[in-house]
Amino acid sequence: MAVLSSVLDMIGNTPIIDVSALGPNPDVRILAKMEGQNPGGSVKDRIARAMVLDAEADGTLRPGKTIIEPSSGNTGIALAMIARERGYPIKIVLPGNVSIERRRMLEVFGAEIIDSPGAEGSNGAVRRAQALADEHPEWVFLYQYANEANPQAHYDTTGPEIFADVPEITHFVAGLGTSGTLMGVGSYLKEQNPAIKILAVEPPVGEQVEGLRNLDEGYIPPIYEKWGGSDLLDGKRIVRPRESIE
Ligand SMILES: Cc1ncc(COP(=O)(O)O)c(C=O)c1O
Repeated sequence: MAVLSSVLDMIGNTPIIDVSALGPNPDVRILAKMEGQNPGGSVKDRIARAMVLDAEADGTLRPGKTIIEPSSGNTGIALAMIARERGYPIKIVLPGNVSIERRRMLEVFGAEIIDSPGAEGSNGAVRRAQALADEHPEWVFLYQYANEANPQAHYDTTGPEIFADVPEITHFVAGLGTSGTLMGVGSYLKEQNPAIKILAVEPPVGEQVEGLRNLDEGYIPPIYEKWGGSDLLDGKRIVRPRESIE
């Protein structure tokens, strides 16, 4: 096996596994893309790489700069892993109630954790990070909710990988957090075959599932607006916190 020069080279090209046996209907084929196989352990490695490389390319991020980002966990871990390799100090604004494993992973990569109120969920973390970024214009705020590199990473990598492996795909289902996955993959898949349905999974209003959000709670990610989310999505399904773990 080749020796890779950077953890960045391990991101993406995740396998797809047939999990139909876990579904209630034997006539439905369900395939899962194993994003947990990314080096930071989630789909968010893809956007962290894209946002960092993009900010380096346009000169926003350069040696000596500090990164700040709100995250319910996975984007923070992905960014902390990459920031560590590339030598940037990083501060992650994290809702106080996220799981201890997430917190520990951030610490392992040397991120500084800034707590936001757990009850305010990811919206509270976004507000706190925005306020801190305003106070500290010298920090680099990548802001995954508005960063074009987020949906673009999925348009460039996740979508093409899925379509290459499963050209017969009929429905794409993904959690909605920043909406980057759904916007990027959804746009790519619809361009290949407009009949493919794009479905978002979100928690009910007032309940929290780590990483996901209900758009009716009042915050619409700018990338969702810009990529035409309301036209792109064919439907939504609700997942409750307990079900999401099961
Ligand atoms: C495991 C996992 N899945 C899905 C999402 C939501 O993805 P997106 O932000 O692309 O909408 C997140 C967001 O944090 C996540 O951590």
